[in-house]
Amino acid sequence: MEQERLQKYISRCGYASRRKAEELIVAGKVQVNGRQVTELGVKINPAVDRVKIDGQRIEPEALEYYIFNKPKGSITSVGDPQGRATVMDYLKDIKNRVYPVGRLDYNTEGLLLFTNDGTLAQALMHPSQGVTKTYEVKIKGRVLDEHLEALSAGITLEDGPTSPAEIVDYGFDSKTNTTLVEITIHEGRNRQVRRMFEHFKYSVYNLKRIAYGGLTLAGVKRGAYRKLTGEELRQLKALCKLPFGKGPGDGAKGRKMPAKDNKKQFGRNGAVRGAKRRSGGGRP
Ligand code: URA
Repeated sequence: MEQERLQKYISRCGYASRRKAEELIVAGKVQVNGRQVTELGVKINPAVDRVKIDGQRIEPEALEYYIFNKPKGSITSVGDPQGRATVMDYLKDIKNRVYPVGRLDYNTEGLLLFTNDGTLAQALMHPSQGVTKTYEVKIKGRVLDEHLEALSAGITLEDGPTSPAEIVDYGFDSKTNTTLVEITIHEGRNRQVRRMFEHFKYSVYNLKRIAYGGLTLAGVKRGAYRKLTGEELRQLKALCKLPFGKGPGDGAKGRKMPAKDNKKQFGRNGAVRGAKRRSGGGRP
């Protein structure tokens, strides 16, 4: 078997992400064949070398992939020193040590992937991949077209400019005094969607991730999870240009979108298309 970087092996064992594995190595918690390794870049032969973390042998486990519908009011972390509810509370039946791919805020709901496949997780989160994330955003008040156009073209936040985004405006609802939009971004910066709307002094009333890398929440109730199908896994790996072996199942179903008759679209060169925006009544 080929040599493999130690941090990659640790992440393939489902013990930690590659970055976390590097931290473990530098912290002196990792032993290879009984000898402590603290420098990065060491390669091992997984067929013969024995790796221990904190004195415990680790070995690769079967790779697993889950799609989870995160409810509001849970933190995206494998543990919380303050004892708050974490997403892991919903995944207690999963025996292997899976961890979240990226994060959603405490008050954000929606699609979160879990896996013990460090290679795929790393690739999906890497900014160069530009994996699409679509959010349904309910905003207090009426959002101006010019602001949606600006958000779609890209604005400058305190951590730099945002990439172009696609926005679908489902309009203003006078009953609830909210505007509903869908925004697709190609980055995953901290609180990015909230900060984008806050930039124009809007406050986000509800935020839900409804799609990730083309996968949707179809058939996954709030607080529930399911394994990815083989086709879904193939799709994610193709996005990241990773090889795909045998997968667990078949095709994924699409999400039912609201009616398209009365919406507007912003994006792809800032073009505005579609019918007039709503000025009252319920959602499309
Ligand atoms: N953008 C946010 O503002 N919050 C999230 O949880 C995800 C994206």
